[in-house]
Amino acid sequence: MTIQRTETRPFDDQKPGTSGLRKKTAHFRQPHYLENFIQAVFNAAPELRGQTLVLGGDGRFYNRQAIQVILKMAAANGIGKVLLGRGGLLSTPAASCLIRKHGAAGGIILSASHNPGGAEGDFGVKYNIANGGPAPEKVTESIYWHARNLTTYAISDAADLNIDQPGLQQLETMTVEIVDPVTDYAALMEELFDFDLIRDRIAQKKLRFCFDAMHAVTGPYAVEIFHHRLGVAREALIHCQPLEDFGGAHPDPNLAHAKHLVAIMQGAGAPDLGAASDGDGDRNMIMGAGCFVTPSDSLALLAANAQCAPGYREGLRGVARSMPTSQAVDMVARQAGLPCYETPTGWKFFGNLLDADKITLCGEESFGTGSSHIREKDGIWAVLFWLNILASRQQPVRELLDQHWRRYGRHYYSRHDYEGIAKERAQTLMTELRAQLSQLAGRRFGELVLAGADDFSYTDPVDRSVSQHQGIRLLFEDGSRIVFRLSGTGTEGATLRLYLERYQNDQARLHDDTQQTLAPLAAIAEQVAHIQHHTGRTGPDVIT
Ligand code: G1P
Ligand code: ZN
Repeated sequence: MTIQRTETRPFDDQKPGTSGLRKKTAHFRQPHYLENFIQAVFNAAPELRGQTLVLGGDGRFYNRQAIQVILKMAAANGIGKVLLGRGGLLSTPAASCLIRKHGAAGGIILSASHNPGGAEGDFGVKYNIANGGPAPEKVTESIYWHARNLTTYAISDAADLNIDQPGLQQLETMTVEIVDPVTDYAALMEELFDFDLIRDRIAQKKLRFCFDAMHAVTGPYAVEIFHHRLGVAREALIHCQPLEDFGGAHPDPNLAHAKHLVAIMQGAGAPDLGAASDGDGDRNMIMGAGCFVTPSDSLALLAANAQCAPGYREGLRGVARSMPTSQAVDMVARQAGLPCYETPTGWKFFGNLLDADKITLCGEESFGTGSSHIREKDGIWAVLFWLNILASRQQPVRELLDQHWRRYGRHYYSRHDYEGIAKERAQTLMTELRAQLSQLAGRRFGELVLAGADDFSYTDPVDRSVSQHQGIRLLFEDGSRIVFRLSGTGTEGATLRLYLERYQNDQARLHDDTQQTLAPLAAIAEQVAHIQHHTGRTGPDVIT
């Protein structure tokens, strides 16, 4: 075994986005592409030298090959030990859990999250720091700098390791420990939730549950936790075999892509709770019999009912949501006298608030919910939280939602995505919109009056770092909002995200149709931003 220094030339497109570096799989497989990025990570993270690195991925196509490359590069870059999920598998939340539990200096997670996988699909690499969370911007900027200035990378010429064999192996001077991907994570879940109570309700058939792993990484987690530990029937856990191409589907748990689950939950005899998770297990979708809980409402309900779960019985320090997420959780925080923070899109912005113990729960409208137990959003955790609440409150999801809205009012909410637009066109739309911002305040659109408009900028309350251009907000006098953002995770062209929100506390108007309620806001968005003109589309590609 020897360590090679391979000459290379920088690629200019290795800037990590909202959640790591995400590209077409074929793009990642071109010679030196993965190696360059990994070397840039090691150069930007000298703290890994001699220390432990957690490694795993969501099992998508190219996961296993990439793991071998990274192991050989880790050995050549002086990493002390790699903690690897068996078979190269680790959900994103489980990786975060392992980093924290084992005092690792960082972690590399291979995933393009909810994007389709396969040779024609997407691949991705994320770097997490010692707190278990996504690398903050100063680290991703440094990775990008190193990627642009790279001339060589180091790699061992050792043979491939057997990554399916639990236990210790040696690679150069580095130790590789292959661990079960589920064990530590499942133990953490048992500390947070009342497993006895949930198990009893399930055994009595008073709590019927169905979970769709979408052929992604949460399959083994679901079988161990829901079936073995909580007694959920194995047949109620669907698509639990992780597949390299997710069975050809789009592993994104929402109404558009989790069709199988939606059909079950809308059908006759639907279970009490239905849930799904995404490619790497950090997202979740929650449904009750015949009803869908928006992720923004889910966060608000978890905050309002947190005392049901043993891990949160002592109360919450505060809550946070990403800027485009609806303000439902703000109402709960206000009534409970809790601090509530508004951050830019992306989980990395919650890290400092969690580390400084300013918040306990946080979430995003994009089907992400989580807490201080780790530093990633966590799909299985959110589902367990809901199971715990249903087991203690013993009411149907629909009734819990109704009660919540009656008390706090309802935030009608929807996101409209325009995908695969030419990048320049999307940029022009945003630039023209930005240019109008100062003249928009006070403008009246029917009964809606604009109170203000801005380009969201965030000053981190902990380290005072500033993140600008995080989305254009139109804020109305009645609390309604329209937000425009360009996605930072897409791999083809640009995706325009239009977020619409309208608050209603008239008790007679709590069960209106969401899209109809939001239609006036969508019309204003069109009037102000000329979406059809810029995108050439007559409507959004995906509505969630
Ligand atoms: C999307 C979501 C964002 C989430 C990210 C990673 O990012 O909108 O909330 O944190 O995926 O899962 P975007 O494509 O909008 O930049
Ligand atoms: Zn994900």
